[in-house]
Parts: sequence; C-alpha cells; structure tokens
Amino acid sequence: MRKNVWIAAAMVVVLGLIWGTVWAAEEEMCVPMGTITLEPLSAEAKRVAVEFPHAVHFGYNCQRCHHTWNRESAITGCSASGCHDIVEVPKSEDGRPAKDATLQARYFKNAYHTMCIGCHKEINRQNQKLQATRILTDQKLAANGPTGCIQCHPTE
Ligand code: HEC
Ligand code: HEC
Ligand code: HEC
Repeated sequence: MRKNVWIAAAMVVVLGLIWGTVWAAEEEMCVPMGTITLEPLSAEAKRVAVEFPHAVHFGYNCQRCHHTWNRESAITGCSASGCHDIVEVPKSEDGRPAKDATLQARYFKNAYHTMCIGCHKEINRQNQKLQATRILTDQKLAANGPTGCIQCHPTE
C-alpha cells in the first residue's frame, strides 16, 4: 500500500517535469487543433454555444480571422477587452441599433455572424455561379460550412 503511494508520488513528479519542459518549449503559443466551444458572452443567451471546428479552417491564412495578430505575440481571444467585448446590441439614444459600424462590430454576435456566416455565404455564392457553368467546366464545388441557425446552434 505504502509502496503504491510512493510510486504514484514519483510519477506525479516525473510527469510534472515532462510537462514543465513541454510547457517551456511551447510557451510561445498553444494552437487548439480540435473543436473550440464558442460561448455566448451574454448572461441570458438565446442560443446554445457553437462548436467550432478550428483546424478544418486552417486552409486559410490565420490572419483572415485573427485579423489583429502581428505573428509575434500570442493570439488573444476574440472578446479580449476593446475587441468584440460588447454583450448586447449597441443602441443609440432613441433606442434603435446604433449606426456606428465600428461600435456594432464590437458586439460579439455581430462580429461572429459577419465573419462565420459571411464567409460560408460567399462560398455558396461562388458555388452557385460555378454550378451554373459546371457542365462546361466540370470543376468540383468547394466544401463549405453551415449558414442556417440550427446548424451552428444545434438546439434552442
Ligand atoms: C456559422 C455559424 C453560425 C450560424 C449559421 C448562426 N450563428 Fe449565431 N452565433 C454564432 C457564433 C459563433 C456566436 C457567438 C458565440 C455564441 O454565442 O455561442 C453566435 C451568437 C449568436 C447569438 C448571441 C448569443 C445568444 O445566444 O444570445 C444569437 C442570438 C444568435 N447567434 C442567433 C442566431 C440565429 C437566429 C441564426 C440564424 C439566422 C444564427 N445565429 C446563425 C455562429 C452562428
Ligand atoms: C476561420 C477563422 C479562424 C482561422 C482561419 C484560424 N482561427 Fe484560430 N481561432 C478562431 C476562433 C473563433 C478562436 C476562438 C477565439 C475565442 O475563444 O475568443 C480561435 C482560437 C485560436 C487560439 C486560442 C486563442 C485563445 O483564446 O487563447 C489560437 C492560439 C489560434 N486560434 C491560432 C490560430 C492559428 C495559428 C491559425 C492559423 C493556422 C488560426 N488560429 C486560424 C478562428 C480562426
Ligand atoms: C474564410 C472563410 C470561413 C470563415 C471565416 C469561417 N468558415 Fe467555417 N468553413 C469554411 C469552409 C471552406 C468550410 C468547409 C471545410 C471543409 O469541409 O473542408 C467550413 C466548415 C465549417 C463547419 C463544418 C465543418 C464540418 O466538418 O462539417 C462549421 C461547423 C463551421 N465551418 C463553422 C464556422 C464558424 C463557427 C466560424 C466562425 C467562428 C467559421 N466557420 C468561419 C469557411 C469559413
């Protein structure tokens, strides 16, 4: 019994050392390869969180999405302070959505929808064009992501 405790303790120390080395080596940046769960910022979210397959998008330049990244410092999340950090639709004094486009882009939902749905819709448009001439070109349609609400927010 005692022996097992010592073995366990030794393993913790060894794992700690290995992890420490890996950590030190990769301190520069840890890139999430699988699915990133994009949580709503709003306290009372209307939709469920979005499962975003990050690496599926690595055919694009990283800066297509991480548009403020300078390729030197670590990448920060989209809702870092001063970025897309507003929780509700920015309104002007008369209660209507504010006209200022920069302010609207700070509302996290607008930022994500413009980027995610914007790109998927653009690909659909290109595919439709291609489809209209496909008999002539025989080119394959491009793979694409979802544009419908429940495809990204699976349940209510
Ligand atoms: C390509 C994926 C995608 C599609 C399609 C999409 N959304 Fe979103 N939506 C997101 C992401 C990403 C966020 C920000 C993270 C989050 O809230 O989970 C978001 C945020 C939201 C929010 C704010 C957070 C909340 O839950 O209150 C609402 C409301 C919303 N979406 C509604 C919709 C509706 C309605 C549609 C269909 C017209 C739609 N979305 C289509 C990806 C998508
Ligand atoms: C299609 C858009 C898109 C592309 C392309 C993309 N990413 Fe991301 N990445 C995201 C989103 C969205 C997140 C989640 C950010 C958040 O949680 O606020 C993220 C998160 C990250 C994070 C974690 C940031 C944190 O919050 O700690 C790193 C690191 C990262 N990406 C690196 C990369 C690298 C390197 C590339 C290029 C190979 C890349 N990304 C390409 C959209 C993208
Ligand atoms: C610059 C264009 C672009 C942007 C921005 C983009 N996507 Fe995509 N997305 C794609 C393409 C292209 C595919 C198809 C990739 C494939 O199947 O090879 C895709 C696929 C997907 C899929 C389906 C993956 C699968 O395995 O079926 C989801 C879900 C998705 N995207 C969500 C998002 C979300 C959420 C965002 C915003 C955070 C986003 N995308 C931003 C281009 C984009």
